[in-house]
Amino acid sequence: MSGKVRVTINVAQSLNGLIAGKFGRRVQISSAEDWDRVLDLRTRSDAILIGANTVINDNPDLYTGRTGSKDKLPIRVLLDGRLSIPTHSRIFDGRGRTLVFTANRERKMLNCDIVYSDDIRIPIPYVIETLETMNVRNLLVEGGSMVISEFLMAGVVDDFFLYVGNILIEGDGIRLFEPVTTLPGIVQSWERLGDGYVARLDVKKLMGDLVKNGRRRP
Ligand SMILES: NC(=O)c1ccc[n+]([C@@H]2O[C@H](COP(=O)([O-])OP(=O)(O)OC[C@H]3O[C@@H](n4cnc5c(N)ncnc54)[C@H](OP(=O)(O)O)[C@@H]3O)[C@@H](O)[C@H]2O)c1
Repeated sequence: MSGKVRVTINVAQSLNGLIAGKFGRRVQISSAEDWDRVLDLRTRSDAILIGANTVINDNPDLYTGRTGSKDKLPIRVLLDGRLSIPTHSRIFDGRGRTLVFTANRERKMLNCDIVYSDDIRIPIPYVIETLETMNVRNLLVEGGSMVISEFLMAGVVDDFFLYVGNILIEGDGIRLFEPVTTLPGIVQSWERLGDGYVARLDVKKLMGDLVKNGRRRP
């Protein structure tokens, strides 16, 4: 949908539609079987993108279960307009390439390449164009909720996989879809995976609804 870069969103939510606990507390939602699916998606991606809050709250290295030389691992891409994440975050471990999009020219970071923008809210088409020049053909967007919303609003998503885990999270966690509207037939296919389900969503319907209603989050 965005030229040569195929954009896939993958995210896991609880039965009550939350992707994290209160104040963004990390919750293990995926089952072991779902983790295998996520690892497969990551293996087939040239780059994996996340937002600053996901780094601050979860501190993922995005290479779990992966070995291999630096040039074989996907590029880790971070959107962080204010560049507020800690310098010791695991995505700066030097295992692979890390690319940071930011508007903050003051702060220095080691073990990463920085792409500067004049706009603190970096336009998603600019992110994609930049990745395209780096030969990224498959981009996996893992969240959080704000980043997923921005990609949908930009109309650049090709595939959306939503895992629904067999778990409830306390009510004031981070919601994936908010506010909820009625979108009949939004699920194109369901597949049982471990004790949860993975759904493939109709992205055209989802993007159309977002743009129509101008909502901040999906
Ligand atoms: N269940 C799952 O599958 C899953 C997956 C991933 C994350 N999560 C959860 O999601 C939670 C975080 O979600 P969230 O919605 O709060 O935050 P998020 O999407 O992870 O990060 C939002 C932040 O990223 C930066 N950002 C996003 N878009 C940007 C843009 N276009 N230009 C510049 N900076 C941009 C901004 O940081 P600045 O403040 O620097 O501007 C923004 O405040 C975490 O707690 C994590 O546990 C769950």
